Amino acid sequence: MDYERIIFNIKLQLHKESNPLANLCNSLAFIYELEDVSWAGIYFFDGNELVLGPFQGKAACNRIKPQSGVCGAAFSDLKTYVVKNVHDFPGHIACDFNTNSEIVLPIIIDGKAIGVLDLDSYKPARFDEYDKEKLEQILSILTDAGVFNIFKKTRGFN
Ligand code: SME
Repeated sequence: MDYERIIFNIKLQLHKESNPLANLCNSLAFIYELEDVSWAGIYFFDGNELVLGPFQGKAACNRIKPQSGVCGAAFSDLKTYVVKNVHDFPGHIACDFNTNSEIVLPIIIDGKAIGVLDLDSYKPARFDEYDKEKLEQILSILTDAGVFNIFKKTRGFN
């Protein structure tokens, strides 16, 4: 599925349903249909660690320290990381040893990170600036629809 179709489906989902968890789960199911994506999911900050949230793909690490891995870097630096080769990223956390590339975006509400969106691929250099732009657009659609509001209370790291 391409980004335009994913964005269309997410907007339709948000129009039909108001429950934030249902909206997040189905949004991730749409994102997971991108070509060559092996995992797509969200980690939410619980005040101490990033904890696994809704996702599509194989079972993954439950908890990530905010200083660890690509997820921790994106969360702490409030910056999207496009990692062409995860084996070159110091401290990369391998939840699936077949992963070769990754993109992680911080989820920012009112200037503070509340979690991250993480996509993995078995294909080297799968993600680029276009993915960053489109996934940031998707996150802002979800943020504007209020789906992350229930997780606001746990923020506080940044
Ligand atoms: N690779 C991530 C960990 C999360 S899994 O990929 C689902 C990282 O280095 O933070």
